[in-house]
Amino acid sequence: MPAAVLVGAQWGDEGKGKATDLLGGDVDYVVRYQGGNNAGHTVVIGDQKYALHLLPTGILSPEVVPVIGNGVVIDPGVLLSEIDGLAARGISAERLLISANAHLIMPHHKALDKVTERYLGKAKIGTTGRGIGPAYGDKIARMGVRVQDLLDPGILAKKIEVALTEKNQVLTKVYNRRGIEPQAVLEEYLGYAERLKPHIADTSLVLSKALDEDKFVLLEGGQGTLLDIDHGTYPFVTSSSPTSGGACAGAGIPPNRLTKIIGILKAYTTRVGSGPFPTELTDEMGEWLRTTGGEYGVTTGRNRRCGWFDAVIARYATRINGVTDYFLTKLDVLSGLERIPVCVAYEVDGVRHDEIPMTQTDFHHAKPIYEEFPGWQEDITGAKTFADLPPNAQAYVRTLEEMSGAPISAIGVGPGRDQTVVVRPLV
Ligand code: GDP
Ligand code: IMO
Ligand code: MG
Repeated sequence: MPAAVLVGAQWGDEGKGKATDLLGGDVDYVVRYQGGNNAGHTVVIGDQKYALHLLPTGILSPEVVPVIGNGVVIDPGVLLSEIDGLAARGISAERLLISANAHLIMPHHKALDKVTERYLGKAKIGTTGRGIGPAYGDKIARMGVRVQDLLDPGILAKKIEVALTEKNQVLTKVYNRRGIEPQAVLEEYLGYAERLKPHIADTSLVLSKALDEDKFVLLEGGQGTLLDIDHGTYPFVTSSSPTSGGACAGAGIPPNRLTKIIGILKAYTTRVGSGPFPTELTDEMGEWLRTTGGEYGVTTGRNRRCGWFDAVIARYATRINGVTDYFLTKLDVLSGLERIPVCVAYEVDGVRHDEIPMTQTDFHHAKPIYEEFPGWQEDITGAKTFADLPPNAQAYVRTLEEMSGAPISAIGVGPGRDQTVVVRPLV
């Protein structure tokens, strides 16, 4: 049976949490396949607001089995406090499954994330400081500590010892920081092991069996296409593969199981941290988008950089991910504008580019070429059908659809679960 991927089409924070939650009633499993607690997914259900970082959004749907896949990096302390926070609000994480092959974020990863950013100075990436990059670095360097190591205290002790023998040299001799005591880390992580043990599973096998039994599996991405380690605006990216190609590797299911690739696309653009952003508005218009759209980070509280919709990026996301459907979010935020500019191409040193330029240097110099579309003044937060939208809002959606090259199947008109116009079923 089918599996669907839900992927951010821009630089993250497109509204993936809301979209996943909306589908919660139609799916059996929701799997996070990459990233870690650098993600911040906000879900609004009635008068309750939830901010999820590591837990799959499916945790909020009582019938769904939430899964943390092998491609995720897990900070166990953060995971447990997230579980406890939800338990205090009456939401159980008993069904949660955690891949035995997922990697753990260790104290030295967090220390190194912070100190390397400081050393980069002006060239810093603006990471979330959660240890994501160093944890994936150790995974690729084959020095990582995995969830399954929590089940064998002897192996855990050895792996911590090996990792810290090297990392303490780096922390003390390169960065002039204090080293980390292996025994203290071992005791801390053995404490986490006790609580996490019942959740640890061969999640690839579980998902494969579920698909054979005709269950529906939804793979929930963190971050977004332009933050992908391979396809994003490197080096100003995260250290994993949020794009649909990464979903199979990070969940342990084969590509021929995927039937739908749902791109989440904001009606304008935002970005957190450093890096190129051609349509960024640094004037009062950018401030207006930030205030009206509530564009403040869920994870770090930083102001999100804001700008107009960039159709070059949307086309790129369609191509890289093979998007079959778009969920366009935050259309309501644009209500009240006279005219809405959309970037249709870039100009780099006098030359028009209809695609993202090949080199980082050219992308840094890309200037947006805008076309303007008429806005609408009506409040659309109560719209239930496409026909409820004012004609200019309908035309704006149609324009984005045409420029992006994939159908817009759902439209967000507010943060609430029910504030969605469904044009055609997503799953
Ligand atoms: P994610 O990281 O992709 O899950 O997105 P975030 O949760 O970080 O940011 C999206 C924000 O927009 C959240 O505060 C959502 O509650 C909110 N949101 C999602 N969809 C809509 C929408 O259609 N309209 C409005 N006004 N807010 C939305
Ligand atoms: P969600 O899932 C927006 C950005 C950081 C930084 C870069 C690298 O909520 O969309 P990292 O800590 O991952 O090494 O930081 O990536 N970043 C995000 N931006 N939304 C996110 O997640 C992000 N996760 C990481 O700001 O620029
Ligand atoms: Mg977010």
